[in-house]
Amino acid sequence: MLASAATQLLEHYDAHARVLPWRSPPGMPPPEHYRVWLSEVMLQQTTVATVKPRFRRFIERWPTVEALAEAPEEAVLQEWAGLGYYARARNLIACARVVAARGGFPTSEAELRKLPGLGAYTAAAVAAIAFGEQVAVVDTNVERVIARLYGIDRPVAEARPEIRQLAEAMTPADRPGDFAQAMMDLGATVCRPKKPACLACPLSNDCAAFASGDPERFPAPKAKKARPHRHGIAWWTTRDGAVWLVRRPAKGLLGGMAGLPGDDWHHDGVPTRTFATVSHGFTHFTLDLHLVERPEPAGDGWWQPLDLIGEAGLPTLYARAVEAALSRKHELAD
Ligand code: ADE
Repeated sequence: MLASAATQLLEHYDAHARVLPWRSPPGMPPPEHYRVWLSEVMLQQTTVATVKPRFRRFIERWPTVEALAEAPEEAVLQEWAGLGYYARARNLIACARVVAARGGFPTSEAELRKLPGLGAYTAAAVAAIAFGEQVAVVDTNVERVIARLYGIDRPVAEARPEIRQLAEAMTPADRPGDFAQAMMDLGATVCRPKKPACLACPLSNDCAAFASGDPERFPAPKAKKARPHRHGIAWWTTRDGAVWLVRRPAKGLLGGMAGLPGDDWHHDGVPTRTFATVSHGFTHFTLDLHLVERPEPAGDGWWQPLDLIGEAGLPTLYARAVEAALSRKHELAD
């Protein structure tokens, strides 16, 4: 059944593969290594829909890994603004410099894994898609497909080693890159978390979850941990239609990104002088960022004209904070 599942899936992919700017059509030679690597890093925590236009823009600006290796870090962080998880962007530059210096990407999963920012998932994805290595590429979508196919009803966190083994056993020697992307597409478009489209699925004949009549039950949802809540202050200082921005310290959350000056986000509750608040979910906590007016600029920074705020390279948290401050000011003025 394993071999036939891979064949059926590849046939389905041949007819239904999503057309994406970093992909070759099914069965064709792989795309440039640089494109595969860049797209996989972008897609680590960001959706395909968001990545598509950003990938195109990035590739236009830095068409080769050598071009990227020569780019100033600040320009790359600015281009990354809004994609989140900014450590990725810093690793991206570090990796580009290593790759350019060694004259190209290494070609095996084991060697790729040694590059800055390439975890198990990304190394496997690049090895399979760019170099045709027979390795399993397992992301959240793929975990769900396998859990359903084999009727695993435990939470993924518990079943991960078993899921990985099953994925490895399924991965064909021929077209492992297409197979990986076929699994991803199936997970994203057919074997969806809610309301899977089992009637359109090439694997439904072999699928234990489908046979059970309640495929959504597989795998069990993960136990939800309450995320701790923090409060922080952002200083709002404006002058002649410009707002005072600073660059955040290189290390830590949103490291190296532009932002409003403020405290270290360990404020005890809501400050009394706040005039607007935005909430933002980070991986390990949620933040209420409270805007407080401050007459004099704080820290080392620059005046960013508000009509050019889109060019400041603000990450989403601060872009939303600026928007909230401006709309609150408008309300107060009306
Ligand atoms: N998610 C991560 N990598 C992907 C790829 N190559 N195609 C579609 N979705 C993805």
